[in-house]
Amino acid sequence: MATHNLLLLPGDGIGPEVMSEVVKVANWFGGQGVASFETQTGLVGGCAYDAHGQAISEADMALAMAADAVIFGAVGGPKWDGVPYDVRPEAGLLRLRKDMKLFANLRPAICYPALADASSLKREIVENLDIMIVRELTGGVYFGEPKQIIDLGNGQKRGIDTQVYDTYEIERIGRVAFELARKRGNKVTSSEKRNVMKSGVLWNEVITALHKRDYADVQLEHQLADALGMQLVRWPKQFDVIVTDNLFGDMLSDVAAMLTGSLGMLPSASLGETDPKTGKRKALYEPVHGSAPDIAGQGIANPIAMIGSFGMALRYSFGLGDAADMLDKAIADVLASGLRTKDIATPGEATVGTVAMGDAIVAALGKIAG
Ligand code: IPM
Ligand code: MG
Repeated sequence: MATHNLLLLPGDGIGPEVMSEVVKVANWFGGQGVASFETQTGLVGGCAYDAHGQAISEADMALAMAADAVIFGAVGGPKWDGVPYDVRPEAGLLRLRKDMKLFANLRPAICYPALADASSLKREIVENLDIMIVRELTGGVYFGEPKQIIDLGNGQKRGIDTQVYDTYEIERIGRVAFELARKRGNKVTSSEKRNVMKSGVLWNEVITALHKRDYADVQLEHQLADALGMQLVRWPKQFDVIVTDNLFGDMLSDVAAMLTGSLGMLPSASLGETDPKTGKRKALYEPVHGSAPDIAGQGIANPIAMIGSFGMALRYSFGLGDAADMLDKAIADVLASGLRTKDIATPGEATVGTVAMGDAIVAALGKIAG
């Protein structure tokens, strides 16, 4: 039985609560002999700042670089609003993405029929929705230089961020999208703002050329990012795989999350290049939702996005597609049985807490396993 080393970084807010439910699920798979998971736990975000004045310590960075996969909760909260920019909680996550070279962020948005009524859109618009947002994660305006606020000396300041993309960055994220599309609905929608941005013009050219050269069998269309935002809420089922840059991907994936009923439902995988020698790739798995400080510590957070992120680790890091399918089915079964955390309940519906939802998913796994 293979042993996989996981680094757990629960982080802040609801992070630790939802991470506990992942540990239960990992232990269940371990007990079934599917694989054995060795875990270590580190600090990231505000809790890391409180402990050692950094958003992530060098020691925890080293653990992350060595792990087979990092399982990440959430970072941030009002407690750290005043900390210096370089050590703000989000800096820990951004450093992990950059240093681990996790350029490909996969954000599937699936609307379970049982949850269609929890979405703010009409049932027929979202029911059975299954789209995959592929967000470029290590480039663009998040990391481009210069990035600064300069004093103009006349009582004015200037804030500068730089949107920058090189050909290779666009090409490698394009490949990820086309490869995924081949295993799904065979359609890619590429999105940028080529009507305003030079980086958008290049993005469009590179994706078009890559498609022509290597992926002509996949259907490709281009949509401007603002129009795509509109189409996502108008008729989201027109999409299969959406590929876009770091900033547009950040925004559009939050929109997509709400189609599925709640931010508490969306998992994600952040992947690096596969090492040709070992066949391994660095990877970090995190829910799309944040630290939700308003409900932290109450035991009411929805653990499904976090558990689903572990499911993506099974699929994309450990080659355990069958186990991942089983976990997806367990989640669907629990939702179909009517169990709801507060975020996915319709008004008046009874709700359960984080622990009960995690226990129910483990019980459903047991039933599926027979
Ligand atoms: C996300 C988050 C992060 C981002 C924050 C926490 C830095 O919003 O993963 O979508 O902007 O990428
Ligand atoms: Mg975001």
